[in-house]
Amino acid sequence: MFVVLVRLLLRFVLRVVVMSAAKAAPVTAAAFGGGTPAAVGIGWRPEIDLTVERLAGVDFVEVIAENVCAGHLPESLRALRERGTTVVPHGVSLGLGGADRPDPARLARLAEVAEGLGAPLVSEHLAFVRAGGMEAGHLLPVPRTRDALRVVAENIRVAQDLLPVPLALENPATLITWPDNELTEGEFLAELVERTGVALLVDVANLHTERVNHRIDLAATLNALPLEAVAYVHVAGGLMRDGVWHDTHAHPVTAEVLDVLALLCERHVPPAILLERDANYPPTDELEAELAAIRDVVDRAETRTRVAQRVGDSAASRVESAA
Ligand SMILES: [Fe+2]
Repeated sequence: MFVVLVRLLLRFVLRVVVMSAAKAAPVTAAAFGGGTPAAVGIGWRPEIDLTVERLAGVDFVEVIAENVCAGHLPESLRALRERGTTVVPHGVSLGLGGADRPDPARLARLAEVAEGLGAPLVSEHLAFVRAGGMEAGHLLPVPRTRDALRVVAENIRVAQDLLPVPLALENPATLITWPDNELTEGEFLAELVERTGVALLVDVANLHTERVNHRIDLAATLNALPLEAVAYVHVAGGLMRDGVWHDTHAHPVTAEVLDVLALLCERHVPPAILLERDANYPPTDELEAELAAIRDVVDRAETRTRVAQRVGDSAASRVESAA
């Protein structure tokens, strides 16, 4: 009994240390190999491996974790690593939003990939992907109830305990939503950050999807999110069909999605932003133009922040002089 109590106590202390570390040391642009104000990257995919290697303006890449083996990295990823490009593994199968605890074998594999890539963090989705032994093959929405919050928070803690680097959690894009949600998406994610110290991967295309498909209040969602916990941001293209936004990752990034990025950057410039493209790959110059458009949004937000800071400093010094 005593041994069990000591183990539980040690586990609790370890969690507090992990949470404190996560909160005390947010992921910075430097972790992504980028400078001021933010790193910009693109999703590495086998179909565009050589293109990604040669693209201008890429500070880091993200790879689907399940598609690589730590011991047998594709040559292109090895080349990127050798030149110092940060590679972030992005998981799609942990099912952190499910009722079951995350599979230790899947976590061990994700940890191995993170270590093999020398990654500064890993990311996964706020979604469930299996239940009752059945694989959905999709990222499914989590009911945003207080009961689900407790389960998901514990799943995240289990993952954090077994991963060697910080975990970032991505907001989903959904076609349907549960009828008995008790919390908004912003509130749900904020609670998870508060309870676990998990970092956030904010997908602005997914926020746009939620705005179109579920009429969420975008400003309220951004205001509810603890933006200092944002490790990085996803940007992707999609398609409107019959009044529904499909987050395809196979179409150009729209002005509406870039507007969501701008709204986020107005509040807080994130450490890094990544362009996701998973099919219907365009020519290199189109990808470069999308990366440049992303960088332009960030640069404009940073300029506005600097100007506001100068105006504030100048006003403060005038008040001091007058006093
Ligand atoms: Fe995403």
